Amino acid sequence: MSRLDQQIFWDNEYKDPQLVTKSFIPQSDVTSFLSWVRRKQKYPIDVDATILDIGCGVGRHCIYIADQYGAQCFGFDFSATAIALGNAYIQEHAVSGVHLTVQSLTDKIPLQDNSVDIVIDAMSSHSLLQSERVFLLSELYRVLKPGGFLFVRTFLKDGDANAKELLKRFPGPEKDTYKHPRLHVVERVFEEKDFKQMYGNYFSVVSFDKKTGYQKWDNQSYKRRYLIAHMQKKS
Ligand SMILES: C[S@@+](CC[C@H](N)C(=O)[O-])C[C@H]1O[C@@H](n2cnc3c(N)ncnc32)[C@H](O)[C@@H]1O
Repeated sequence: MSRLDQQIFWDNEYKDPQLVTKSFIPQSDVTSFLSWVRRKQKYPIDVDATILDIGCGVGRHCIYIADQYGAQCFGFDFSATAIALGNAYIQEHAVSGVHLTVQSLTDKIPLQDNSVDIVIDAMSSHSLLQSERVFLLSELYRVLKPGGFLFVRTFLKDGDANAKELLKRFPGPEKDTYKHPRLHVVERVFEEKDFKQMYGNYFSVVSFDKKTGYQKWDNQSYKRRYLIAHMQKKS
């Protein structure tokens, strides 16, 4: 599946969702992470903070952060439909401090070096190829301030029977990828050791949690494993 096909797939998803959420309620792992940054790490999130949400969808996390903490939040997504839905909400509810832009995760991030306090990747970068992921990580490292934080929630391979079945029956172009038979997108699942090794080149993995959840399509729920990593830029 080419990059353009993936972009079209996601854009159609926001027009007629089977998988994504058009909800503006933030995901609880993201709100827990923000509390952890403030309370446990004693790192302020306030009007002076700059947040980046990559693959932001309709921008639910940016809207929450701007509303809750008064921070500036930049959200990038390559679905023009998702960004238009988010911008309509922002206008209707007069939300300030949120900047949603159509932009691919494979492009250079249009933000200054060392300018971002927190990056959020909530189930967004797992469809990248490995070379694209390496480029993205170098970009996140570049834009994050020294001591800035990165949140990642993504698919965990360890203990996920559905992932193993998908990998066996519908292998994708690279290690630990499958082409989803129904959704037609390529997804990567991560072993804990591979994830820690890859992200560990740039970030200290401060907290690593594993959870069970459900991926829904065609009105059915499939049990999946997820990893939730709280990371800090290495100096
Ligand atoms: C499962 S959704 C999650 C959306 C959002 N993070 C949230 O929690 O509501 C994945 C998102 O990643 C976006 N995405 C996937 N690949 C992307 C890419 N290469 N560039 C930009 N956005 C991408 C999709 O358009 C989609 O909005």
